[in-house]
Amino acid sequence: MQNDERLQTPESIRARFTMDDLECCLIETADGSDSLLYRTIGTSEWTEPMHSSKGAWSETLFVYEPALRQSLELIKNDETWCVASIGLGLGYNELICAALALKANLPSRQLKLTSFESQMAFRKSFVEVFGHHHSQTCPEALRGAYERTTALICDFIGVSTNSFRTYVGELLTHNSLELHGAFEGVENSPETHVENLHSCVLFDAFSPESSPDLWTPDVLTNLVDNLCGQSCIFASYASRTVLKKILKERGFTLEKLPGFAGKRERTYARRF
Ligand SMILES: C[S@@+](CC[C@H](N)C(=O)[O-])C[C@H]1O[C@@H](n2cnc3c(N)ncnc32)[C@H](O)[C@@H]1O
Repeated sequence: MQNDERLQTPESIRARFTMDDLECCLIETADGSDSLLYRTIGTSEWTEPMHSSKGAWSETLFVYEPALRQSLELIKNDETWCVASIGLGLGYNELICAALALKANLPSRQLKLTSFESQMAFRKSFVEVFGHHHSQTCPEALRGAYERTTALICDFIGVSTNSFRTYVGELLTHNSLELHGAFEGVENSPETHVENLHSCVLFDAFSPESSPDLWTPDVLTNLVDNLCGQSCIFASYASRTVLKKILKERGFTLEKLPGFAGKRERTYARRF
């Protein structure tokens, strides 16, 4: 294993399980919320953990929830709230987006949430559990993580878990929540048909060291040009020069904000 010294502490590992071709390690972060790392079965290299070991939920609240909240406040009556998320992972960002929309009484058809995830196993499990499918292929440990995340989100936003589950189910049924494969640049990926420009883009992929293909200037430019609407808030835990330069060139104003848990900076950019 690499990257996270917390994994050397056995109690931080909640479960190990396999899903399709992935071996997964579910971990407890410092605030009690779940994170995960994985590797392809038969390979030795684990991915980096999906979240900061200081708290997956706390990091989500710090980096992404404010961007979603501010973007939602800018939506006018009858307008569709279009949000894009790169890196579904355990679904914190998608779920908190849904809870904010529910709390604001936004009909499920008035939300368009486009999410990208390179690993089919995570897309499949998310749809099975939140789409209330009868199939039972999602590992119990991952179901448990979804349940804990749902409880945290519903409690924080102030919605009931039943209404939340129904709402997320509707989003999936109406294709208001669409899960796509890896983001590789819109025209480079035949399965990716992005019809909307988004008023909020959450960029939560792995770091450039783990996902170099995503972090090339070409793919990042493609991402900003094809996903961001004219009026848009762009948020990421990462703060790399290559990304900030492209955002600036495309008319975004960058706020200099600290990163989560002592990290120097995160990316928070706005274009109006
Ligand atoms: C930092 S984790 C995301 C955590 C997630 N936002 C959450 O709330 O749990 C990064 C995720 O991006 C996925 N990923 C890696 N490369 C990708 C790509 N090119 N396009 C979309 N997703 C990618 C990984 O499989 C992983 O699930």
